[in-house]
Amino acid sequence: MKQVITIPDLRVARAALPEPVGFVPTMGYLHEGHLSLARAARAECASVAASIFVNPAQFAPTEDLASYPRDVPRDLAMLEAEGVDLIWLPTPEVMYPQGYQTWVTVEEVTQLLEGRMRPTHFRGVATVVAKLFNAVQPQRAYFGQKDAQQAVVIRRMAQDLNFPIDIVVCPIWRERDGLAMSSRNVYLSPAERQAAVVLSRSLAVVQQAYQEGQREAEVLRKSASDLIQSEPLARLQYVSCADPETLEELQGPVAGRALVSLAVFFGRTRLIDNIVLGG
Ligand code: PAJ
Repeated sequence: MKQVITIPDLRVARAALPEPVGFVPTMGYLHEGHLSLARAARAECASVAASIFVNPAQFAPTEDLASYPRDVPRDLAMLEAEGVDLIWLPTPEVMYPQGYQTWVTVEEVTQLLEGRMRPTHFRGVATVVAKLFNAVQPQRAYFGQKDAQQAVVIRRMAQDLNFPIDIVVCPIWRERDGLAMSSRNVYLSPAERQAAVVLSRSLAVVQQAYQEGQREAEVLRKSASDLIQSEPLARLQYVSCADPETLEELQGPVAGRALVSLAVFFGRTRLIDNIVLGG
């Protein structure tokens, strides 16, 4: 596995890769969810490139940039074992050199859900992903449904800015008890870790209600929020039942597909999860 840091080195290494190239952007501290993206890329592409970059631009000043978990040697061993061909580890100076002042703003789908709670987040995500795409020039790029809104934002950006890249969205990878894998799960105390299963449980309750014929968006939202509010360690930030493409909140009966998503705090740790109904 070739490792590069600078953009000139990346370009040389990239040019040597057989095409199509599949690309997996990450912030590191990898888990099975990340690796499932690398595996999908490995299965579908002649070469696989990945990146590890904890992108300061997508963290608000109040968020966990400084404490975000990191273990690059372990990450490299895991990517190597998945048959990744090229790993790019840009530094903040490579990505945002002195004088940097260009940003990518996706206007509408960034305003809702996560964007309401984290107003500068998706500008940082869209900007870094555009820069990663321009530098790596993959034919396909792999993202997780875990960050459902991020996938919508990236698809929109790729279409709007004419990136000739297929955006592939892979299913959510979960722990045995249902907790969606996340690099941030390490922040949880043992008691919080146990309590965190309430996210996936509440989504399962919503799915069950939907399967039994419940279609009222408000009733579906309430079935999730009631369960989360019954968990003393959980502090609910939002439950949404929205159109999976526009992310507009659904009112009245759900007709087509619906994205049910939620954000919950355990202490200072913020977790998200989601499920698509009618998919
Ligand atoms: P990060 O949180 O490291 O996630 C990298 C990719 O892994 C994202 O596409 C995310 O959706 C996916 N992923 C995370 N947990 C997953 C799980 N449990 N199952 C399946 N996929 C999962 O998302 C980012 O980094 C950044 O915003 C990034 C796109 C790299 C831009 O900085």
